[in-house]
Amino acid sequence: MHGSGTFFDARLNDKTQYAVAAKTGAGNARGTPDRITPTLAALHFYQLAIPSPKPPEGSFDKAAAARGKETFSGKAKCATCHVPPLFTEPGNNLHAPSEIGVDAFQADRSPTHMYRTAPLAGLWTHQKGGFYHDGRFASLRDVVAHYDGFLKLGLTEQEKGNLIEYLKSL
Ligand code: HEC
Repeated sequence: MHGSGTFFDARLNDKTQYAVAAKTGAGNARGTPDRITPTLAALHFYQLAIPSPKPPEGSFDKAAAARGKETFSGKAKCATCHVPPLFTEPGNNLHAPSEIGVDAFQADRSPTHMYRTAPLAGLWTHQKGGFYHDGRFASLRDVVAHYDGFLKLGLTEQEKGNLIEYLKSL
């Protein structure tokens, strides 16, 4: 931010959505020398190379997680968006708020008006502060209950429990 370099994103020229950026021309910054562009490839490579942390031994029920894996890819349809082993879409991973049953408040602040499919590997590391972009679901049980209701999955209590153990294993 405010470094010397090139930044281009024509979407920031939208006067209604980004009044300040449109006025200051932040969507087309051409600082010289360009210290940003030459470092982006290496930075991207580094980001992709970071392994997700594995859950500690004994932190989830292995047998239940194995059953939960079946539900994740089968009846619960989670894997249609959270595609293993990335657990997000390998391509355009954005969804309209209406597809996941939440409001558009934060999505509408972004140029896409969408939410990104959260990659789930290493999910066990952030079980505090809630889930989804604004932490609206306090627990994984709440997340699963939301999908079950919104997508009319008809999951049994056992299937929900297995799914949660699987989520803790990623
Ligand atoms: C239509 C695509 C889609 C489907 C189907 C889907 N998800 Fe998601 N998932 C998303 C998106 C998009 C987000 C990010 C929502 C947000 O940030 O507000 C998300 C977020 C999550 C999160 C929160 C992660 C975090 O770090 O806060 C969990 C957990 C999750 N999904 C689990 C599941 C499970 C379990 C299922 C199956 C029952 C499932 N998802 C089905 C798109 C999907």
